[in-house]
Amino acid sequence: MGKENIYILGIESSCDDTAASVLCNGKILSNVIANQSIHQDYGGVVPELASRAHQQNIVPVVDQCLKKAKVSKCDLSAIAFTRGPGLMGSLLVGTSFAKSLAYGLKIPLIDVNHMQAHILVHFIEKEGCEKPTFPFLAMTISGGHTQIVKVDNYFEMTVIGETIDDAVGEAFDKSGKALGLGYPAGPKIDKLGRLGNPTAFKFTKPRVKGLDFSFSGLKTAVLYFLQKNTKENPNFIAENLNDICASIQHTIVEILLDKLKLAVKQTGINKIAIGGGVSANSAIREALKKSEQKQGWKTYIPDTEFTTDNAAMVAIVGYLKYLKKDFTTQETTAKSRLKIQ
Ligand code: KG4
Ligand code: ZN
Repeated sequence: MGKENIYILGIESSCDDTAASVLCNGKILSNVIANQSIHQDYGGVVPELASRAHQQNIVPVVDQCLKKAKVSKCDLSAIAFTRGPGLMGSLLVGTSFAKSLAYGLKIPLIDVNHMQAHILVHFIEKEGCEKPTFPFLAMTISGGHTQIVKVDNYFEMTVIGETIDDAVGEAFDKSGKALGLGYPAGPKIDKLGRLGNPTAFKFTKPRVKGLDFSFSGLKTAVLYFLQKNTKENPNFIAENLNDICASIQHTIVEILLDKLKLAVKQTGINKIAIGGGVSANSAIREALKKSEQKQGWKTYIPDTEFTTDNAAMVAIVGYLKYLKKDFTTQETTAKSRLKIQ
């Protein structure tokens, strides 16, 4: 008899994306995301609006996901959901939905740490896609997090550096807000920055000891820089937008790369994987690729669809936990501050 297929439904609702994905033996059958455009009007995610939108989206998203995968609810082996970290109201929607569905179907329920999922997304089964070998370093860069993690095994991870204030995504988003680029500004800075000169303007890099990061100073430096220059020339932003974006982006890439170099030096590990929304950034991806030649690193860069929040990353963690029968119970609760270990 052939091996039984394992179908995992993953559900992600930690911030402002309602997402569901079905994996069969670690391979993606479907991956559906409903983005919440409502937050654009407010310049950032409004938690109350996010949880209401999740409530509206979750049933159609899961339904569409199963249809696309051509899988019936009854075929599912387990339900995996993001338990945390994230916005409490948002997490509660996915958690309650996953719990009810698993209960109704009488199948195992698997809790997933969102930050582990951003790292383990590299283990989705995909032809021609090389998976990292252990140990490796993972740099998770998103709107809520900036961490360097030593990954010894699927579930043996140690945070060896993290931000002491803002996340790198906030540095992009807040700088972009000051430039009038709307929310989220990261992708726009990326697009405009490609057309500009990365060394046109210089921003001071923060001095933080060890492997920790700081981004609040950069945000303030950008604000002061814009205030000063627009006072002298009211059209300063419009006339220099591409160069400003390229220069901010360049500074951020240097900050990240400097810390990675130090992490490699300290750990002796030169295999680097990236994950999280900011890892979609073209300058970061390019700099990392170049580091293979320049530094002798081996790098793992996810396809852009797996950088920002998605449920395939939740489902792959679900699959890996399913294999070791690491299930949770109906007593589980959402946790907005969940550590990686
Ligand atoms: O992982 P993610 O989707 O959600 C969180 O868990 O935070 O990351 C969202 C963040 C936002 O700050 C967004 O501006 C940033 O990722 N982002 C980018 C790019 N695409 C998304 N930042 C820079 N360049 C990009 N291309
Ligand atoms: Zn995320």
